[in-house]
Amino acid sequence: MPEALIIDDDPEQLRGLAELVEREGFTTRTAGDLAAARAALDEHMPDVVLSDLMLPDGSGLDLLSVLEEDPGKTQMVLITGNATVESAVEALRRGVIDYLTKPIDLPRLKTVLANVARLLDYTSEIGSLRHELRKLGRFGPMIGASRPMQEVYDLIAKVAPTEATVLVTGESGTGKELVAQTIQGLSRRRRGPFLAINCGAVSPNLIESELFGHDRAVHACSPRAHQPFEVVDCGGLPPTLIESELFGHERGSFTGAAQRHRGHFERASGGTLFLDEITEMPIELQVKLLRVLETGQVLRIGGDQPVPTDVRVVAASNRSPAQSVSEGTLREDLYYRLNVFPIILPPVRERRGDVTLLAHYFLEQLNAAESTQKRFSAAALERIERHEWPGNVRELKNAVQRAYIMAENEIEPSSLPADLGAPAVTAAAGPGGSEPALKVGTSLGEAERHLILATLDHYAGDKKKTAEILGISLKTLYNRLNVYKRE
Ligand SMILES: Nc1ncnc2c1ncn2[C@@H]1O[C@H](COP(=O)(O)OP(=O)(O)OP(=O)(O)O)[C@@H](O)[C@H]1O
Ligand SMILES: [Mg+2]
Repeated sequence: MPEALIIDDDPEQLRGLAELVEREGFTTRTAGDLAAARAALDEHMPDVVLSDLMLPDGSGLDLLSVLEEDPGKTQMVLITGNATVESAVEALRRGVIDYLTKPIDLPRLKTVLANVARLLDYTSEIGSLRHELRKLGRFGPMIGASRPMQEVYDLIAKVAPTEATVLVTGESGTGKELVAQTIQGLSRRRRGPFLAINCGAVSPNLIESELFGHDRAVHACSPRAHQPFEVVDCGGLPPTLIESELFGHERGSFTGAAQRHRGHFERASGGTLFLDEITEMPIELQVKLLRVLETGQVLRIGGDQPVPTDVRVVAASNRSPAQSVSEGTLREDLYYRLNVFPIILPPVRERRGDVTLLAHYFLEQLNAAESTQKRFSAAALERIERHEWPGNVRELKNAVQRAYIMAENEIEPSSLPADLGAPAVTAAAGPGGSEPALKVGTSLGEAERHLILATLDHYAGDKKKTAEILGISLKTLYNRLNVYKRE
């Protein structure tokens, strides 16, 4: 039977709460202040601590430092008399898995305790995943044994079982969506839906909904999620469509809204919603998104009845969100609300040791799927190891896939993309001129813009080829070009 330690300075409340918790299948111990709680924790660690925020000798949150000594062993639920969004967010940020407000609502207490009980199973699973990582350099679906990736795994393991909002940042192709899926897979929501939406103006989901109507959820776990799509240049979809995808709409609320449509927030209920390219979201929608996140309720377009949501949000961006705030493209209040738990994915050039591991992993996957035994030649491996991989894991994965198709049995350098050998700087020469356009002191943003435009120029405007060579998705390329157009 799992054990709970309950801390409250009001003896009557303490007894009442202990009784309720016992009815949910926990054994309990109680403490009236921090000192008694510390003594109880010293004796042995319970599975969960339910603590009042304000105690006579300090804050319940002070106990987190004791719990952190043995991470993952004991979960903490905070009880607070006057919950403000700030104190709750602060508590979640510091590792509390959930919070209850006084007076305690029985159904809510039951839900929280059920989550705790489920979590206890996951904790052992996460523990074994860590073990696996040490042996094989992998964490669930993620590959990589490098130090920076191990730090990422630790963060995922810590945050996955909580309800905290996560903001994943990293260059294109570093695996942000995979991180979101891993978080969902290790959370109590893992049997619930995982829905992804691109918050920028041009998104395959939206184009699809534009083309085929609004009835189908695009499941980001489906293999289709990363497959190429025919681009319909919609010249930037109207914000109403993104709003309708996120929040839904009532019948007749705008031209074309013939049916009531449940948005992603409703359809992802019980699961995780992945808000991709959050910094590209139209600013007027950011206001609405913030309101949904703060109230936990969504209002369909044209609707007047707020609908409660039960969604965990993971947002991602391949830009610096802080910079987007200073440039005015991301609202500061939304940024703080999303940035409860940031995870920064390192680019491949900062985890070079993982390149061979990833290349072998992708090749093995193809071999297993096709029952083949293709191998890299030593020269091909050397070329793979030497390359900078500006397009990160996606570029590497694409290169391995292409080489696999081209090669008979042994993969030689000739099967690898020709650009793999080319020095990166030549691509950055000024368009039409031989003078190098990139000097030390060029900002990354400018360099990126230059590289994209120069590559596009080189391939005579072929966007598909440009995206492929740069190792970014076509939608990222379109997003960037849209931004350049606006600037
Ligand atoms: N650590 C990893 N292990 C195995 N596969 C990975 C890893 N990281 C990324 N991938 C694979 O690389 C591809 C790109 O990853 P993903 O789509 O998650 O990147 P992203 O950061 O979301 O890119 P973008 O910013 O362009 O949307 C996917 O096929 C993903 O499965
Ligand atoms: Mg992505």
